[in-house]
Amino acid sequence: MATRKLLLLAGDGIGPEAMAEVKKLIAAMNEKLGAGFETEEGLVGGCAYDAHGQAISDADMGKAMAADATLFGAVGGPKWDAVPYEVRPEAGLLRLRKDMQLFANLRPAICYPALAQSSSLKPEVVEGLDILIIRELTGGVYFGEPKEIIDLGNGQKRGIDTQVYDTFEIERIAGVAFELARTRKNKVCSMEKRNVMKSGVLWNEVVTATHKAHYSDVELSHMLADAGGMQLVRWPKQFDVIVTDNLFGDMLSDVAAMLTGSLGMLPSASLGAPDAMTGKRKALYEPVHGSAPDIAGQGIANPIAMIASFAMCLRYSFNMVAEADRLEAAIAAVLDDGLRTADIMSDGMTKVGTVQMGDAIVEKFLALSA
Ligand code: IPM
Ligand code: MG
Repeated sequence: MATRKLLLLAGDGIGPEAMAEVKKLIAAMNEKLGAGFETEEGLVGGCAYDAHGQAISDADMGKAMAADATLFGAVGGPKWDAVPYEVRPEAGLLRLRKDMQLFANLRPAICYPALAQSSSLKPEVVEGLDILIIRELTGGVYFGEPKEIIDLGNGQKRGIDTQVYDTFEIERIAGVAFELARTRKNKVCSMEKRNVMKSGVLWNEVVTATHKAHYSDVELSHMLADAGGMQLVRWPKQFDVIVTDNLFGDMLSDVAAMLTGSLGMLPSASLGAPDAMTGKRKALYEPVHGSAPDIAGQGIANPIAMIASFAMCLRYSFNMVAEADRLEAAIAAVLDDGLRTADIMSDGMTKVGTVQMGDAIVEKFLALSA
């Protein structure tokens, strides 16, 4: 059995509690299914800052580069609000994305039937929702230079961020969106602000040209990103795959996540380009939710997004498609059985803590695998 190398970066807040449930799952898969996972651990975020004054150490960065995949929990918390900007907890995540060139961020927004009631929108608007946001993750205003605050010398300062995209960056993210659309409902909607931004004009041109050259079988539409945000809350089921830039993707994916009833449910994958020799791609998997410091350490956090992120890891890094399907089915089944963590609790359901939810999913998964 080939070894499958995983780096676990649990991070801060509820990250470690959620990661503990995935560790249980990995141990069970190794023991019962001979899955051959080998895990290493490292520090990222505030805990890394406390340990060595950096949001992620070079040594842990090296482990991430060497692993087949990295599982990431969450970073940040009020304890580190005042640390220098360069070493703030989020800098660890941004370095992982940039150094591993994880340009493609896949953020599914799926509404589990059992949770349609928990959405702030009407159940008929969100029931059966299944959209995939493809967010460009290594470019745009997040990383563009100059990025600084300058002193104008007249009592005024100027804050500058730079939105910049090159053709190849747009081509490769569009390619990921079209390829994935082919495995789904075959529809892509590209979102930008070409009415205001030059980078939006180029984005639109390059997506259109990439479509024409290689993917004309896929249905392509374009929307201004603000209108896209409006359509997401009006009638989200019109979308299949949405492709957009780093900043719009950050915001639109939070909107899409909330449609599904809880931010605590949604996973994400960040992928690099396949290696020309081995076909392997660097990858990091993380829940969309943050570190939730207000509930950390109480054993009440929802571990589903972290577990569902591991399902994406099985699918995209290890091609363990059947196992990923079974794990996602186990999550849905446990919800159908009425188990709920506090964030998704509703009348008549059974309230459980992080560990009980994790146990129930592992048990269901093993039963489905038998
Ligand atoms: C996300 C987060 C990050 C981002 C933060 C933590 C830097 O909001 O992954 O969506 O803005 O990309
Ligand atoms: Mg975000």
